[in-house]
Amino acid sequence: MSEPIGIIGGTALAGLAGVETNGPATIPDTAYGPASGPLVHGTFAGRDVCFVMRHGPGHRLAPHAINYRANIRALADAGCRQVIAIAAVGGITEAMAPGRIVVPHQIIDYSWGRAHTFYDDASAGALDHIDFTDPYAPALRQALINAASGLGFDPAEAAVYGVTQGPRLETAAEIDRMERDGCDIVGMTGMPEAGLAREAGLDYACASVVVNKAAGRTGGLAIHAEIEATLARAMANIEAWLEAVLPT
Ligand code: HPA
Repeated sequence: MSEPIGIIGGTALAGLAGVETNGPATIPDTAYGPASGPLVHGTFAGRDVCFVMRHGPGHRLAPHAINYRANIRALADAGCRQVIAIAAVGGITEAMAPGRIVVPHQIIDYSWGRAHTFYDDASAGALDHIDFTDPYAPALRQALINAASGLGFDPAEAAVYGVTQGPRLETAAEIDRMERDGCDIVGMTGMPEAGLAREAGLDYACASVVVNKAAGRTGGLAIHAEIEATLARAMANIEAWLEAVLPT
């Protein structure tokens, strides 16, 4: 078997239809506790993959309650060196319209109180202040952009992802502040996931889809109805995107 690629499924990809599994999936129990859900090992689009649902089976775990450390540790322990993180996000800036495929290049972290590092105590080994200047792996990001372009998706090739605490959605003033800060998209799970992946030495990039206009920018549709409608349309695109990017 070749080295598996890790996939963290989010709201926009609850499962991986078409994955041929290598056996029954179990929930990995790591030094940081159990992962969000079963780790599905299998083959998808001709590549070995390890897939974990970020919010767990049935989408039960709120963003602040996700055990990000366990999920990243489990993927690393399974031999993954690359991780593609799927994310459904809100669009802040004009260009980030619902349905837009986005490959963010930067992060601003507004989340708080989450277990955000593997360097919690001396047992973690020599402390490394990881370089996080560019939070996403450039080659993996480029592969995502190329695959989406090849499918005619017109991906946004750069975006600043502002990570909020949730689970509530943001106020209009919070989104205004985020836009002033330079955020293009908003989601609740981009951190500490990306930082932990870097600490674990994994190449990590985010494949996101805008599912709603952010608070204060809604075009009249109720936000939840807009999310549901966009998700239903976007799901097939996300799977096609993964299928295109995985063999690279
Ligand atoms: N805000 C925060 N997280 C989100 C949103 C949003 O509008 N849409 C999808 N995830």
